[in-house]
Amino acid sequence: MTTGPDTGHPHAVSSSPQRPDVAIVTGAARGIGAAIAEALETGGWRVVRVDIGFSDMGPLRRALDVTRFDDVVAMVAAIEAELGPIGGVVNNAGITRDGFMHRMDPATQWEPVIAVNLTGPFNMCRAILPKMRERQFGRIVNMSSMNGLKGQAGQANYAAAKAGLIGMTKALALENASLGITANCIAPGFIDSEMTRAIRPDVREVELTKIPAGRPGTPAEVAGVAAFLMSDGAAFVTGETLSINGGQLMG
Ligand SMILES: NC(=O)c1ccc[n+]([C@@H]2O[C@H](COP(=O)([O-])OP(=O)(O)OC[C@H]3O[C@@H](n4cnc5c(N)ncnc54)[C@H](O)[C@@H]3O)[C@@H](O)[C@H]2O)c1
Repeated sequence: MTTGPDTGHPHAVSSSPQRPDVAIVTGAARGIGAAIAEALETGGWRVVRVDIGFSDMGPLRRALDVTRFDDVVAMVAAIEAELGPIGGVVNNAGITRDGFMHRMDPATQWEPVIAVNLTGPFNMCRAILPKMRERQFGRIVNMSSMNGLKGQAGQANYAAAKAGLIGMTKALALENASLGITANCIAPGFIDSEMTRAIRPDVREVELTKIPAGRPGTPAEVAGVAAFLMSDGAAFVTGETLSINGGQLMG
């Protein structure tokens, strides 16, 4: 139930004066992150888009490498000072560096994937949680993956990071459940984005045949689920991982 009048959108953030309405979306320059930022704006959030690929362009669009803890802390403080309390964050930034584990290079494949996909969300949550706990309100959505749930040949690094994110999210959900803070993961399957367009065409063809829905998902279809988890309607959902995969993997 919302605590005040809202915009009428099903995923609307409440307009209650106590409810912080600033949200951060990482990796928001394109693909799924860009779609999530748009969906959150439609729901009434004031969205700060951050991405390693941005050059600074004002308070709502900022350059940030989520792997750099000190930079994340500084940015969170700057956003709060300029825009007001942060109510939610979607840790969406992610990369792949695929290869079989017996040939995987620690420095160029293992470490960067763990750094962006797992340490990045840790950095952001670590920076924001003290303030969310003080205010007794927060929404955290972490971007996992179907491949973190089922494993994927050639993605030991990515599967480890995305599975680790699910464990981290459950722990932080438990630590903060009594303080009005929810933390959930979403686990997309095959979504049409630049990340999946980079897959070798023959491999991509085979992967597409595995989807019961008969097509890849769209960034907007992932964004709808993220917007729900960020909404007042999801206040009692925490520690969950929601799959978005056209029926490819069922829990
Ligand atoms: N596309 C899929 O099929 C799929 C499936 C499951 C999960 N995911 C996950 O969804 C998220 C978004 O995927 P996408 O397909 O839109 O990918 P994408 O490559 O199109 O976009 C990722 C964005 O993250 C940004 N980014 C990368 N490293 C960063 C860093 N260190 N700091 C800040 N930003 C950084 C990139 O610049 C880019 O804009 C990722 O976490 C990905 O692992 C994608």
